Amino acid sequence: MDGTETPAAAAAFAARYGCAAEAKPGPWNDTIALLLSHRSVRGFRPDPLPEGTLETLIAAAQSAATSSNLQTWSAVAVNDPATRRELAAIAGGQKHIEQCPLFLVFLADLSRNARLAAEAGRELAGLPFLESFLVAAIDAALAAQNAVVAAESLGLGTVYIGALRNDVTRVARLLGLPPGAAPVFGLCVGHALPGREGEVKPRLPQAAVLHHETYDADDAAHRAAYDPRMAEFSRRNEMADDTWTKRVIARLGTLRALNGRDRLKEALIGLGFPLR
Ligand SMILES: Cc1cc2nc3c(=O)[nH]c(=O)nc-3n(C[C@H](O)[C@H](O)[C@H](O)COP(=O)(O)O)c2cc1C
Repeated sequence: MDGTETPAAAAAFAARYGCAAEAKPGPWNDTIALLLSHRSVRGFRPDPLPEGTLETLIAAAQSAATSSNLQTWSAVAVNDPATRRELAAIAGGQKHIEQCPLFLVFLADLSRNARLAAEAGRELAGLPFLESFLVAAIDAALAAQNAVVAAESLGLGTVYIGALRNDVTRVARLLGLPPGAAPVFGLCVGHALPGREGEVKPRLPQAAVLHHETYDADDAAHRAAYDPRMAEFSRRNEMADDTWTKRVIARLGTLRALNGRDRLKEALIGLGFPLR
C-alpha cells in the first residue's frame, strides 16, 4: 500500500516529531506505521507470553543482517527470580526487570567463533581487536532491534536495559558467561500494564540528523526547536520538566552519571576482549 500523505501517516509523523510541520511523509504502510509508533514500556503485566513467543522473537532477531554472517551475538533468557533481582539491582533498581514475563540479556559473543577455531586447531588473529568487539556489539544491537519490532508487532511492549553495563563483570558471573562473551544490554518484553503503554517520544527534527553530501554542524536552530517539544512531552508524562539540552548535559556531564560504566573498557578486557 502506498498511502502517501494519508492522515495516518501525517499523524504518525506529527507524534514522532512532536510537531505537525516537521517533515512530510512519503510512501506508507503498516510496517512503517509500526516503526513510527515505537515507545519504551516500563510497567509490565506479569502474565506469561503466548507459547512460542520467545522462539519467534529469537527467529526474528536471527533474521537481522550480521557482519560477514559471523553471528557474533547470543541472548540469555533469564527467568530465575533471584537472578532477576540481582540484575535489577545492577541496573539501579529498575523494577520492570523483575516484573516482565520475558527478560533477555543480549551478548556480544565472540566465544563461539573462538571455540570453533580451537576445535580446528587454529588461532583467530583478528579476534583480539576493538573491531571484533564492535562487530559483535553491532550484531547484538541489530538482532535485538529485530526482536523489538517483532514484539511490538505482536502487541507487546519492550524496554532496553543498557544499565546492565553498570557492572558487566557481575552480570557475566551471574549468567556464567565464557571468556569472549559480554552483556551489551538487557531487554524487557511483555504486555504493558494498563496506563503504562507510554507515549511516542518526539525525536530531533530530521534536519538535525540527516545531512546531504557533507555534514552540516549548524544545528542550533534544530536543537532549539526540539527543546520545548521534549519539555512538553516530559510535562505530560510526569517527568522532570526538562529540555533535551538539560537531559543530555545531565546524562553525559559527569562521571557519576555513568554509574560505573567509565570503567567498562577494563571490565571488557577482563571478560576476554583485549580491544587492541
Ligand atoms: C541500548 C539502550 C539502552 C537503554 N537502557 C535503558 C535503561 O537501562 N532503562 C530504561 O528505562 N530505558 C533504557 N533505554 C530506553 C531509552 O531511554 C529510550 O529508548 C529513549 O528514551 C527513547 O524513548 P522511546 O524508546 O520511548 O522512544 C535504553 C535504550 C537503548 C537503545
